[in-house]
Amino acid sequence: MERGRRFCTHGWDHLLDVARLAWIMALEERLEAEKEIVYAAALLHDCGRYKQYEDGTPHEEASARIAPGILEECGFVYQEREKIRDAILSHRSVSVAAEKSLRGILYRADKRSRRCFSCPVREECDWPEEKKNLKLCW
Ligand SMILES: [Fe+2]
Ligand SMILES: [Fe+2]
Repeated sequence: MERGRRFCTHGWDHLLDVARLAWIMALEERLEAEKEIVYAAALLHDCGRYKQYEDGTPHEEASARIAPGILEECGFVYQEREKIRDAILSHRSVSVAAEKSLRGILYRADKRSRRCFSCPVREECDWPEEKKNLKLCW
C-alpha cells in the first residue's frame, strides 16, 4: 500500500532500523531487556499500517490488535505478548518518550530511525520541524 509513497515508508528497512536502534538504546541505557522482545516489538510495531490506509484506524491500535496473534504463533508467553502489545500501542505517544522501558526505546528508536536530514521531500513532510531528525546523532 505504500508503493510509490514519497514520504517515509514502513517496510523492512524501517522495521530493522528500529529494531537495531532500540537494541542499541537498551544496551546503552542498561535496561533489563531481552533482545528477542525488543526485536519482536520493533518488527511488529507498524504491522497494522495497512488498516490506517484502508479505514483510518490509527496504526498503533491496529498493530496492537494484530501483533498478539503473531506473537502467540511464535511462542511468546502471555506476559511477553502483553508487554510487546503495550509498547506497540504507545509507540506514537509522546508521553512515553522519556521512559527507560521497552515503550520508551520503541518510541525513540522509531523517531530516530527517520533520516530527515537527507530526505528529498523534507519540506513537504507533515512532521513538525522540531521533530525532524536534522542532525546525525550517535
Ligand atoms: Fe508507526
Ligand atoms: Fe515506525
